[in-house]
Amino acid sequence: MLVLGIVGSPRKEGRTNALVDAALQGAAARGAQVQRIHLIDYAIRPFASQGGAADGVRFVPAELYDLCEQADALVLGAPVYFGDINGLTKDFMDSVRIRNENGKPALGIAIAGGSGKGLFSGVQSIYHWFYHRQMRAIDPTPVTRFNMEAALSALPAGGACLVEMAQAPQPFPGAGREDRWAEVVAYYATIPLLDKDPVDEFLALAQQLVTISKGKPALAEAQAELARALTLAEQGDRAGAGRHAVRAYELLLI
Ligand SMILES: Cc1cc2nc3c(=O)[nH]c(=O)nc-3n(C[C@H](O)[C@H](O)[C@H](O)COP(=O)(O)O)c2cc1C
Repeated sequence: MLVLGIVGSPRKEGRTNALVDAALQGAAARGAQVQRIHLIDYAIRPFASQGGAADGVRFVPAELYDLCEQADALVLGAPVYFGDINGLTKDFMDSVRIRNENGKPALGIAIAGGSGKGLFSGVQSIYHWFYHRQMRAIDPTPVTRFNMEAALSALPAGGACLVEMAQAPQPFPGAGREDRWAEVVAYYATIPLLDKDPVDEFLALAQQLVTISKGKPALAEAQAELARALTLAEQGDRAGAGRHAVRAYELLLI
């Protein structure tokens, strides 16, 4: 059993690498063979064909798609750049072709390591790919520098979960790709965070900062702003919720 960890950041010793590694450690502890690769080590080019999607194989080295095919499960980690995954990871996703992708267990991790903005939109991009490629993704791990330690502690369980799933593979039923969408869309309807927007992001960021800001003079005020934001969100006032969530975030930002 092979679990492949794919690091999409050009920084080989950065946060993405540490997060992917944490998931792989969990997989290894469950007896899987693990392998970590860095996309920056491969000659990946932007998809630049005038032809169709099948041309993708020209832009990713065969070695890389062979590895993805050999893997029983994938961990894909990417840094967030301006609210989305970085281009290198996207280029890989655009072009890699994995013939046995149906139902392959997969975990996506995105790290918004600066302001934290994009913590959901980044990881959503990875999950859009998992969905379109009909893999069987487990719950996403959106990470910021505020919850990095918690994410590092939680990710080994994600890696272990991939191993369990890979032991009893569950391809989506259907004779061909186009016959499987009803099951695929139903499966992805249960995955959390895929419906989140920028207001949800600020609510989550404010919550993360409140959690790590014990003893800070502005904590009580920030908590009150966050409580107001959550009430407004419940009442359906998304604009008001966003304003108060940003205020809570700004009070505690370090
Ligand atoms: C071009 C660029 C854009 C970035 N945009 C964001 C952003 O929108 N939100 C955020 O929280 N961090 C942003 N960052 C910070 C990175 O997410 C952060 O440095 C992260 O740790 C990078 O992952 P790495 O450590 O694996 O390289 C940006 C960094 C770069 C280089």
